[in-house]
Parts: sequence; structure tokens; C-alpha cells
Amino acid sequence: MHPRIKVAKLLIKIGRFIQSSAVAVMRPDDLIELNRRHYSKPDNVQGWCDEQLVNSGLSTLEQSLLDKVGINEGKLLLLGLGGGREAIPLAKNGFMVTGIDFIPAMVEGAKENARKTGIEISGMVQEISSLKLPENTFAMVWLSAAMYSSVPTRKRRIEMLIKIGKALTPGGYFVFGFLWNPKMDASFKSVFVKKTMAWLSLGNLRYEKGDMLRFNLEFIHAFTALEQLKGELHQGGFELVNIQANDESEFAGAIAKKQN
Ligand SMILES: C[S@@+](CC[C@H](N)C(=O)[O-])C[C@H]1O[C@@H](n2cnc3c(N)ncnc32)[C@H](O)[C@@H]1O
Repeated sequence: MHPRIKVAKLLIKIGRFIQSSAVAVMRPDDLIELNRRHYSKPDNVQGWCDEQLVNSGLSTLEQSLLDKVGINEGKLLLLGLGGGREAIPLAKNGFMVTGIDFIPAMVEGAKENARKTGIEISGMVQEISSLKLPENTFAMVWLSAAMYSSVPTRKRRIEMLIKIGKALTPGGYFVFGFLWNPKMDASFKSVFVKKTMAWLSLGNLRYEKGDMLRFNLEFIHAFTALEQLKGELHQGGFELVNIQANDESEFAGAIAKKQN
């Protein structure tokens, strides 16, 4: 190959690597703040509260999870409410829905969208990895649109699961979506270098393979092996009862049952 083309390709590769390392220099709290700033932008609030998007209802994956879990009444806590796309059909199905979002305008937008369709939902402004919830209250906790993957570090996800478990009634269900990428191209060397950068910058000392900034905009952790997911659910007090993941789609979902 022409030497200048070789140099140019090498520079592109180095540039991509430097860009992908940005995720390692932020601490978990910074990663959540990055996401909060992203979702608080007026265009994003408008986008997630948009009537057409909200009226599109549950995706095929979400509907299939709902059918599998087999209940459609009781109190449901929806994490990552957005404009109410899932909350509204779930409330219409018979659930009493409380939605949580860290962007106040999303909570207001979702309540307004629900009102327009003649139903009421409650909303709270909270961050999903530091939830403060009443115990023994909800029959189901729902977190879709791959948002389980938005919680940085395995430790925080397990802490979140423990809180969700306490908020569920005995035998309650946690239905959730996550990002799935078993073919992820993350060599041992690249993971090692990112971990080293995290330590040198005192950034995300719990950096894991699969952590990334999606579209350079928001933090997300892509799961590359189901064992990893099963392990953290187990540690968080849940048993995985159904998983819907295939290698053709990065959006996957699962149903976990609270272990009594
Ligand atoms: C991808 S959007 C999905 C919205 C809605 N569930 C839907 O699918 O239409 C993610 C939503 O979760 C909220 N969110 C993201 N991270 C959050 C966090 N750590 N705590 C609370 N809300 C969060 C965002 O503000 C946004 O409304």
C-alpha cells in the first residue's frame, strides 16, 4: 500500500481509539451526569415526548415480554419514563403506573401525554441508580429501551437491583431491556489500555469491556455474554426467567423474578 495511505489509516485508527477511550476517564457519577445533560436538551425532551413516538406504543420485544410475564394489573414502576411511550399502554392494560425520570420535563410531558388519552399516571423525578422507593409496593418494575445498560458499573447495577427487589412485592417481576453485542470487537489489549487510562486519570476504575459512549453522546454498557448478566441478576437477588436476545439485534430484553 502507498505509505501515505498507510500513515493516514494508522492516524484514523489512533483517532478512533482515543475517541473510544473517553469513556474511561469519567467516573461513574460523571457518566450519569453526561447522560443527564444529554437527555435534558430541549430537542431530546421534545423528541421523547413527541406524540407520534409516544403513540407508537410498545415495541414487538416489549409486547412479547409483557405477554410472557402474564400479569396486567397491580402497581407498576416504570424507570426511564420519557414521554410515556410504554407507560400509557401499560396503564391502559390495567396497571397503576408510577414513572421515574431524572429529567423533570420528561415527567411532566409523560403525565400530560397520558392525560390527553384520558388516563392518569404518577411521576417522580429520581435517578435510577440511586432510587429511593417504598418497600414491598410494586408488582412489576419496568425498564425498557435498553436502559438497564445505561447504569455504569456492575456494582451500581447490583445495588440498583437490590433496591428494586425491596420495592417489589414477593414474587414480583423486573422486566428490562439491555444492549446486547456478543460480537463486540474489544480485544484484551484495548480493554487493558482503557483500564490503564482509567487508573492514570483516576476515572472509571470499574471500567468493563462493553462500556462505551454511544454515538459519542451517552454512556451505555453493551453486554457481550449472558453469563455476565445472569451473574449480576443473581447477586442482586433475582432469577432470570426469560431472555429475548438474538445476534441480529442489539436491543434485547429479559424478565427476572424476585427471589424470596
Ligand atoms: C431512551 S429514553 C426512553 C424513554 C421511554 N422509556 C421510551 O422508550 O420512549 C431514556 C429515558 O430515561 C431517562 N433516563 C436516562 N438515564 C436515566 C437515569 N440514570 N435516571 C433516570 N432517568 C434516566 C431519560 O431522561 C429518558 O427520558
